[in-house]
Amino acid sequence: MNRYAQLKSQLQSKQYTWLVTGAAGFIGSNLVEELLKLKQKVVGLDNFATGYQRNLDMAVSDASSATGDNNLHSNFHFIEGDIRDLATCQTACNGVDFVLHQAALGSVPRSIDDPITTNQCNIDGFLNMLVAARDAKVKSFVYAASSSTYGDHPGLPKFEDKIGNPLSPYAVTKYVNELYAGVFARSYGFKTVGLRYFNVFGKRQDPDGAYAAVIPKWVAAILDGDEVFVNGDGETSRDFCYIDNTVQMNLLAATTDNEEARDQVYNVAVGERTTLNDLYDKLMQRIVELRPDTKQARPTYRDFRAGDVRHSQADIGKAQRLLGYAPSHKIGDGINEAMEWYVDDLSSRR
Ligand SMILES: NC(=O)c1ccc[n+]([C@@H]2O[C@H](COP(=O)([O-])OP(=O)(O)OC[C@H]3O[C@@H](n4cnc5c(N)ncnc54)[C@H](O)[C@@H]3O)[C@@H](O)[C@H]2O)c1
Repeated sequence: MNRYAQLKSQLQSKQYTWLVTGAAGFIGSNLVEELLKLKQKVVGLDNFATGYQRNLDMAVSDASSATGDNNLHSNFHFIEGDIRDLATCQTACNGVDFVLHQAALGSVPRSIDDPITTNQCNIDGFLNMLVAARDAKVKSFVYAASSSTYGDHPGLPKFEDKIGNPLSPYAVTKYVNELYAGVFARSYGFKTVGLRYFNVFGKRQDPDGAYAAVIPKWVAAILDGDEVFVNGDGETSRDFCYIDNTVQMNLLAATTDNEEARDQVYNVAVGERTTLNDLYDKLMQRIVELRPDTKQARPTYRDFRAGDVRHSQADIGKAQRLLGYAPSHKIGDGINEAMEWYVDDLSSRR
């Protein structure tokens, strides 16, 4: 049995209270779902800036149907509130064992358009959460960092200790999170774990809006028969990471009893690189399997986007070594699962 399987079976027999910030978002709602499946108590916090009530409803109902337990909603308590308000963070942290801090404004282009709001949510809000969690004496604090912290460092794969200059306001905010986290360990002995996510994808990732991530945006466009735009020549590459791997890392990081593993940041990825051109072909192939009537157009190429890094691929050795991380899904496995959900969800919503 691997470390994650062991952990899940331990959690089934011991109930803790978890705070998931950004619970109504993509990653947050998947964390809520998995924790409810494991019979944990969950507090969710979100201001619905980019999250949705329907994500919370689906998280609870998917956990209920997976476990056959229709009372799981009683283990979930939701607070609608903003992490920019310290008192809200304090209320949310009250009586909590583990914090999984996901709330932030994502998206590089959004931060270029509006650096001030991104800074307020991602840095002021982060600091409020650190203070509130420290004062509440939680067992652990895990936070969403980002692969954007590698910035212009040319090395591939990316190792946690070799970063370059940030290429966007968003990347600055995520790096500042890491700096604050380190200072909280040194100044207050409050040790946290940062997870540098690399292009996470899966069910409930928002396909709509100007700042949608590439996979849901393309899938929605393909299903709607709309033009798909590729920024640049399509040879830009990413280490796409399926949501289940990300959930696994959060749970392993929160519960680790390896002292060496805390006050650290980790890459959360698979360790493989896929170009946008390959990604398009993989998505199209799977969608056509599920919906043979799909129009199979070629994408349209346009300019590179400001702030984007050219290539990204993680070394995941540190997470494997210190946390026992073993990614369950490579990109193809993730696409197979996620596309079934997207085809159903988008067909029912459009
Ligand atoms: N999805 C990725 O590929 C990826 C990659 C790197 C890092 N991240 C980080 O992971 C985290 C989750 O991202 P996601 O993809 O689920 O995005 P998301 O937008 O779906 O979720 C973020 C959630 O945070 C909430 N939120 C934003 N500002 C808030 C505030 N001031 N107070 C309370 N709630 C607030 C939003 O309403 C939303 O529900 C973020 O911190 C993001 O920066 C994501």
